[in-house]
Amino acid sequence: MEKIEIMISEEEVNKRIREIGEQITKDYAGKEVLLICVLRGGSFFMCELAKRINLDVKIDFMSCSSYGKGTASSGHIKIIKDLEESIEGKNVIVVEDIIDSGRTLSHLLDLLKSRQPESLALCALLDKPERRVVEVPVDYIGFQVPDYFVVGYGLDYDQKYRNLPYIGRVHIDDEVLK
Ligand code: IMP
Ligand code: MG
Repeated sequence: MEKIEIMISEEEVNKRIREIGEQITKDYAGKEVLLICVLRGGSFFMCELAKRINLDVKIDFMSCSSYGKGTASSGHIKIIKDLEESIEGKNVIVVEDIIDSGRTLSHLLDLLKSRQPESLALCALLDKPERRVVEVPVDYIGFQVPDYFVVGYGLDYDQKYRNLPYIGRVHIDDEVLK
């Protein structure tokens, strides 16, 4: 039987997102920011974060998958859905659900950098530093989590649980999913 154990409550998540929103509002004072949501996991976080940024905010969406998942990743990403608009000269903040190995983001950031934004920052709701294979420069992090498989607030297990308003870990019978 599958069961979800709450790790970070709805109140804690929302409080932290408000704090990050305030920080971004300060850091980008007087500027317009473009939030790029990495689908699908980043969507819940980005919507909540956008509401907490007191600046001109635009949003765009991108979807990518890494080749060779399950085996040793070849380290390339495939763009499934690209941005609608150019990011040249814009203050871009990439909004992700979680940084795990860092492979996807590292390639995504390289790609976005080549499109010459005015600035490029990375904001992730969760960070699993123990799992990092590729260094990625993270500017805003919600929470660091230990090496468990986590769900909720956009994160899925087999496409389920994205709609949970908290972060939890998955128990299957007596085992915690890693
Ligand atoms: P990576 O950093 O390239 O390894 O890939 C990160 C992506 O893997 C995230 O954007 C998530 O979609 C997915 N992912 C990694 N860890 C978890 C987890 O604990 N729960 C759900 N999805 C995860
Ligand atoms: Mg993702």
